[in-house]
Amino acid sequence: MRIGVLTGGGDSPGLNAVLRGIARRGERGYGDEIFGFLDGWKGVMEDRAIVLDVERCRGILPRGGTIIGTSRVQPFASPDGLDRVRATMTRHDIEALICIGGEGTLSATREMYDAGFPVIGVPKTIDNDIGSTELTFGFDTAVQIATDAIDRLHTTAESHHRVMVVEVMGRHAGHIATWAGIAGGATMTLVPEETFDIDEVCKRILKRHGGGRRFASIIVVAEGALPADGTIRIPERSVDEFGHIRLGGIGQLIADEIEARTGIETRLTILGHVQRGGTPTATDRVLSSWFGTAAVDAVHDGAFGDMVAWRGGRVVRVSLAEATRELKTVSPELLAVRRALFG
Ligand code: F6P
Repeated sequence: MRIGVLTGGGDSPGLNAVLRGIARRGERGYGDEIFGFLDGWKGVMEDRAIVLDVERCRGILPRGGTIIGTSRVQPFASPDGLDRVRATMTRHDIEALICIGGEGTLSATREMYDAGFPVIGVPKTIDNDIGSTELTFGFDTAVQIATDAIDRLHTTAESHHRVMVVEVMGRHAGHIATWAGIAGGATMTLVPEETFDIDEVCKRILKRHGGGRRFASIIVVAEGALPADGTIRIPERSVDEFGHIRLGGIGQLIADEIEARTGIETRLTILGHVQRGGTPTATDRVLSSWFGTAAVDAVHDGAFGDMVAWRGGRVVRVSLAEATRELKTVSPELLAVRRALFG
């Protein structure tokens, strides 16, 4: 069988491990030929691809990024997008397309399925916010990177008795902030799931640092965290060419407010794309490899319109319709655990 594969949206550590899993399972298990489309849906529309055989995928398991590139381009955004995808698939006799992506790419994949295309989804994002799967690959790596950074910030913060604000990724959900905040022993963790009250944040900091105690505080904030109405004014946010709101900046606002209100020296660290770069953890390599092989099995079972997912310690299949219905936020139970550890 001839199978196409694409990686779309922001990159995530483990993408190459998925590609390698697809190549190995496809070529050795079924005698498939795998076409890797370059730069996501853009490469399908422009008919740009490379052959992804076992040889081509040697050495890529521990490498971050994606060897076939990625973009946020979606076929439905251009009037002839669907026709161009169809033309490329017909031209090369591609019988199935495995689409590895996050919210945007998987929603487009679901729409492609509704339009009659034989597609399978693989969930990817460091944000871990895709519904119907307990994990997405890249998340474990991002949490480890953020935790390492928090550990390092503790020692410098303690030396200077400062407040350190650490901004991590997570536009709709605070999975990275919550996990890294708990793992790194943060003073407080601010997430998109709950608005925060800057007064409460400052009170807690003053309590720690008060009475002549030479303390340090670490405040972890997800980039999508929002202040309670009327507490801090958020400047207008710009939108990129794909309608994606540009985040980043909440950490600076919080750091400025903390310093102004408490008088304690406060510094900001934005971890940004460092969280997405570099080698995946062992957990992410295993999850990605499993997802890759399972996606090829799904193609051969004709399970089009499905996404592979992690549930209860194994890979299962769920419908893309179900998986893209709503984003997965941090559970109330874990939010309560983090709150119990504040201070
Ligand atoms: O979707 C994953 C993510 O890491 C978000 O948390 C973040 O807002 C976004 O990607 C930023 O991506 P880029 O800068 O590549 O547009």
